Amino acid sequence: MSLIDNLQWRYATKKYDSSLKVNETDVQKIVEAARLAPTSSGLQQFRVLVISNQTIKDKLVEVSFGQEIVKDCSHLLVFASWEKYTEDLIDNAADFSTDVRELPRGQFSSYTEKLKRVLLSQSIEENFSHTAKQAYIGMAMSIAQAAELKIDATPMEGFENDKVDEILDLKSKGLKSVLMLPIGYRDMENDWNANLKKVRIPMEEFAIEIK
Ligand SMILES: Cc1cc2nc3c(=O)[nH]c(=O)nc-3n(C[C@H](O)[C@H](O)[C@H](O)COP(=O)(O)O)c2cc1C
Repeated sequence: MSLIDNLQWRYATKKYDSSLKVNETDVQKIVEAARLAPTSSGLQQFRVLVISNQTIKDKLVEVSFGQEIVKDCSHLLVFASWEKYTEDLIDNAADFSTDVRELPRGQFSSYTEKLKRVLLSQSIEENFSHTAKQAYIGMAMSIAQAAELKIDATPMEGFENDKVDEILDLKSKGLKSVLMLPIGYRDMENDWNANLKKVRIPMEEFAIEIK
């Protein structure tokens, strides 16, 4: 099946079969897709927490407006981004990049310095808004990879970010939660959303051609 067919197959699953678990190889592939996502200036401003611990998933339901998909899923991925930019984070990313490419450190320092001037002059809110956007790109990649593996996934913004950050102790890592992605297998009989038609505006309306 093509990617498009698999994107037609997927839907925001509302009820997971809690007895079915995704195997670790497939979980790794879904996380790998996020790791391979492009990010602004290649800074990889987000991390993915991979949660299979039932006690923690149960706790997270309470701060996710009772959405049971958080506890019934096989694994819960939490996408969390840098709370703000710092000189160290940007320098470390630049050094990591030149090291991997076996180039001298500082090779791209004029770009890195320009980047620091822009990002470090912004407010913390502007910084987080930018780092959070990167997490959305990663999550989209994970959703597509999950669909390719015929694994269900539900993108989620419906949770209390501060409380999730506290439960997962994200502050100590310089991170803030952005998104959740429960993954697992749909409970066909009990998911009201399983057999509903996909709703998307027509292509003619969606794609605005400028020739
Ligand atoms: C950023 C984002 C946040 C979402 N948050 C939630 C959520 O908290 N709970 C939920 O059940 N669905 C959530 N959804 C699912 C959307 O409602 C769903 O993707 C949309 O209606 C399109 O339907 P489809 O994914 O089944 O094609 C979210 C989707 C996105 C992209």
